[in-house]
Amino acid sequence: MRPMCEAGKQIMKEGGFTVYSGLSARIPPDHTRIRKLAQSAFGPRRFKAIQPRIEAIIDRHLNKIADVGECDFFRDVAYDVPALVLFALMGIPDEDVPKVKDWAASRAMLTWGDLSDEEQLPLAHKMVDYWAYCRGLVAARKEAPGDDFPTDMVQAQANGADITDEEIAGLMYSVLFAGHETTTTLMANAVITLMTNRDAWDAICADPNLIPAATEETLRFEPSIVSWRRRAKKHTEIGGVAIPEGADILLVMGAGNRDADVFENAEAFDIQRKNARNHLSFGYGIHFCIGFQLAKMEFGIMLRELTARFPKMTIKSGQNIEYLHNISFRVPSQVMVNLGLEAKQ
Ligand code: HEM
Repeated sequence: MRPMCEAGKQIMKEGGFTVYSGLSARIPPDHTRIRKLAQSAFGPRRFKAIQPRIEAIIDRHLNKIADVGECDFFRDVAYDVPALVLFALMGIPDEDVPKVKDWAASRAMLTWGDLSDEEQLPLAHKMVDYWAYCRGLVAARKEAPGDDFPTDMVQAQANGADITDEEIAGLMYSVLFAGHETTTTLMANAVITLMTNRDAWDAICADPNLIPAATEETLRFEPSIVSWRRRAKKHTEIGGVAIPEGADILLVMGAGNRDADVFENAEAFDIQRKNARNHLSFGYGIHFCIGFQLAKMEFGIMLRELTARFPKMTIKSGQNIEYLHNISFRVPSQVMVNLGLEAKQ
């Protein structure tokens, strides 16, 4: 990973890029204050209300691929569905999906990739646009409230909650990134895993009650985020290794998920595993993922529909699946599948 080059920093400074962090890099007491508010707007009420919309979005995408009989599941389904769901919650029009998806991918590469100075510069411009968009959303909701997350935050502020416009925009900046990339990759990696573990797929097709357990095991086995950066607040020791205060640490949750002391036969994908939900794929502690219920709900509906509609689906053999060159996000380049439908007359 590389810090932004000087020319890139200049572009961002001149463009008014002042965002610090939505939540993930914040520490108490700021983190506690902002997270509490964000959580109040992110409760089960909103998630439940959005369920029919999730079902409609998934249905529309699966109808489209069913007409063709084969597809790149990553590009044609998994890429858009979580973004459309999240954007509905965030009150963002569908036509902005490609723009925000592109900003989110650029942000991932800037923070967790290994880009040259030349590669960083166009992305620095994109971050300026992305931040301006988030600030614009907050301003727009103050003018004309909607029924969405930014409106909830703006109204909480109007009712006396201790949060600034900049902090609300920072939350938008975080969530418009964190709330779809990871669910996209979970869906895509799940299809790869299930297609290559046919017994598990067939078992879910036969018994959809296995979906919650299969969801946890997929999260354990193929986490969308395999590692996360942290800094030690004080001197400590982990597994006999001394960690000095201030040390930069890479937490490899993907490895923790395969810890043989916790998970028996940890390298095997096993949807009957009793303790799969002890995985670290949503993090741990005060930063535990705020959107985990939404992610699991979306994933569960997707799996239910895929197994019900395409039980004979297969993955195309011989395809070259590459993974995005970065340290944290496990993003496949493609997932070509054949849906196993009878050829149309
Ligand atoms: C499969 C999908 C998802 C995965 C694997 C995932 C993973 C994670 C992980 C590992 C963290 C901890 C980061 C840290 O320790 O700082 C996290 C935090 C977070 N996630 Fe998720 N996430 C997913 C979906 C979502 C969704 C759908 C949303 C929003 C709707 C979301 C919003 C957030 C936010 C705001 C944080 C920061 C929380 C804090 O620092 O207090 N995530 N997520």
